[in-house]
Amino acid sequence: MKYPHLFSEGKIGNVTIRNRTVMAPMISGLANFDGTPSEQLIRYYEERAKNGLGLLITEATRINNFYGAFMPRQLSLTHDRLIGPFGKMVDRVHAHGTKVFCQIHHPGRQAISILALMAPFLELMNRTNPFYNEMMEFGFEIMGKMMSRVDFNIDMVSALKLSRFPAVVAPSNVPSKHYFQRTRALRRFEIKRLEKQFIAAAKRVQLSGADGVQVHSSHGYLIQEFLSNLTNRRKDEYGGDLDNRMRFLVNIIKGIRRECGPDFPVTVRLTVDEFFRRYGMPHQGIELEEGVEIARRLDQLGMIDAFDVSTGTYDTFNYWLEPASFEPGWRKNLVEGVKKVVSVPIIAVNVIRTPGQAEQQLADGTQDFVSTGRQFLADPAWVAKAGRDAPEEISRCISCLRCIESLYQNSIRGGIMECSVNPKLGRERETAKPRVNGAGRTVVVIGGGPAGMKAADTAAIRGFKVVLFERSGAMGGQLKIAQVPPKKDKIDWCLEDLESADRRDGVEIRLNSSPSVADIKALDPYAVIVATGANPIVPNIPGVNGKNVYTINQVLEGAVKLKGKRVAVIGSGMTGLETAEKLAEDGNEIMIIEMLDKIGPDAFDQNLADVRSRLDKHKPEYITSFRLIEIGDGEITLEHTGSCRQIHEKADAVVLSVGVCSENVLFGKLKSELERVYAVGDARRIGRIYSAVREGFDTAWNL
Ligand SMILES: Cc1cc2nc3c(=O)[nH]c(=O)nc-3n(C[C@H](O)[C@H](O)[C@H](O)COP(=O)(O)O)c2cc1C
Ligand code: SF4
Repeated sequence: MKYPHLFSEGKIGNVTIRNRTVMAPMISGLANFDGTPSEQLIRYYEERAKNGLGLLITEATRINNFYGAFMPRQLSLTHDRLIGPFGKMVDRVHAHGTKVFCQIHHPGRQAISILALMAPFLELMNRTNPFYNEMMEFGFEIMGKMMSRVDFNIDMVSALKLSRFPAVVAPSNVPSKHYFQRTRALRRFEIKRLEKQFIAAAKRVQLSGADGVQVHSSHGYLIQEFLSNLTNRRKDEYGGDLDNRMRFLVNIIKGIRRECGPDFPVTVRLTVDEFFRRYGMPHQGIELEEGVEIARRLDQLGMIDAFDVSTGTYDTFNYWLEPASFEPGWRKNLVEGVKKVVSVPIIAVNVIRTPGQAEQQLADGTQDFVSTGRQFLADPAWVAKAGRDAPEEISRCISCLRCIESLYQNSIRGGIMECSVNPKLGRERETAKPRVNGAGRTVVVIGGGPAGMKAADTAAIRGFKVVLFERSGAMGGQLKIAQVPPKKDKIDWCLEDLESADRRDGVEIRLNSSPSVADIKALDPYAVIVATGANPIVPNIPGVNGKNVYTINQVLEGAVKLKGKRVAVIGSGMTGLETAEKLAEDGNEIMIIEMLDKIGPDAFDQNLADVRSRLDKHKPEYITSFRLIEIGDGEITLEHTGSCRQIHEKADAVVLSVGVCSENVLFGKLKSELERVYAVGDARRIGRIYSAVREGFDTAWNL
């Protein structure tokens, strides 16, 4: 056995777990609208369980309907009638040998206030209408279609502060900077009621047949809001010194023990460092020393069977859900800090992406169980692959954050989360049956970028004979340059994993090949999938053909090397900002020009915060609401998008990052000559890795 520690049995309380793998709790947007597990959610969990997962910790499950709802489709254990359906899900997971703990949760000030009205209403409708879930799914689907052009984001949630929705509740009236919603302090009797609701929910977990409970005291939600002096300003017995701030959690733990007995495993997920010092707020909130002390005092109760160590809060989001710049194992010292002072096993997430890393962290004693969230989204079978010593078959999570971004965007419309490397995520039921009916017929794929590679592999697995043509000398398409900027090396994992899957599954790869229509027809293909990507847009303005003007592709491909120059980067999308960071690191002075009124207008907030946390150290000049209208020798002319006022800026070089347009000439030619021709990825519509991979998969799956 190559990973002896990973595959050794472990114990939490009196529950034996077949190996040391834990699927971290992750809200999924897959539950039914009434809070029961949907078939979709159960299949999603089963897929991980049947592939060897040791312990499943369910998504954050609500204990209160009024202020405790976190999203429309979330598991709930607010009533006894939910025990039965929850138990059926537990049984289905148990059938594969995986143990189940349920995470119980209240979002506190991170609730979305609109749901305070919605959840009880949905509950009531459910009791009076047997076709409730079907109706809701249908209703949300229609609503989703109507709203599909609306880009839901945190700014929109923040706008709710202006509305008359009820205030969200917290220990004190300290609104989250993340949402800025009206926030009110809980009254004492409400705190007592919430303690009882946590305890009642834990009892329901036990009655459902689940193996244990996890009390979510992390990530800036209600319990952590009590623990942290930044959010808890109470003057009563629930605020002030550490014992008082811990009182809410301690009362919950003691109550659960009383109700569930000594043998039922109780675990706590704890933020041991809120990292406010990284946001210019030293000595505020929970820092490691206090986080470790909280763990020590909790351990001394003698009532907790394991600690699940985590970090961060909503206002320091990137420290609880890390973007790509965080290295595997970065929490090591934090986890070890807790392990030294407690007497029970430690579970911890730690950007765990490979079995080798997991084995190492277990072997060196950093933690007793390796927990990962996103690696289980990226590849539900990673444990099984490790078990048969085939780590090279694992699709690694690249920490791109599309899953959480899509959860925000889609769940409010009843949609599901998406993964950049796993297009089957949330569609386990629909994609369960392998459709091996290619019968050796030929499928031609043009282009070796993410869409082409995924299409090729999917068709090959289905039994087609696949020939993939790639114009250049290496596979990867845009991934080859996307990995060049600082901290983007995980993109290379995606490239490597997609390419090795193609090679493993027998795709015939022809590099340095640009076939003509005649060449393709000569192969007599059953279908042709065109994934020819996109070309950079070069705006038609005076001076654009000058020798000091470059595209980001030229910079990232290394065709041009700039050093010691004043460089104007035109366009502040993620690619523009990442390229600017590279140019700054190469020793250039940077100016970033954006037509719109904000930097990174389409970027996901977390990724934007990540790149800016490094880029801003180079002190770039940001110019918003100006468009480039002329490039001269050593100077550019910009025009204000509103007033048309013109300004001149010194620039030795101009780097264009103003978008790309589809390369689909070959697609047009083939379409008129052959029956089954499909464009995917950027060749069809400009998108990102997740859309390219998904289109490649869907097209080949549905051939
Ligand atoms: C889509 C998504 C939903 C999450 N929901 C929860 C949750 O319900 N409860 C929780 O404690 N953590 C939640 N997390 C955080 C994960 O449990 C985990 O701490 C985080 O993803 C970092 O670990 P990883 O790099 O292995 O994914 C969520 C993360 C993601 C990506
Ligand atoms: S979307 Fe990105 S971060 Fe999320 S699981 Fe997939 S690869 Fe990882």
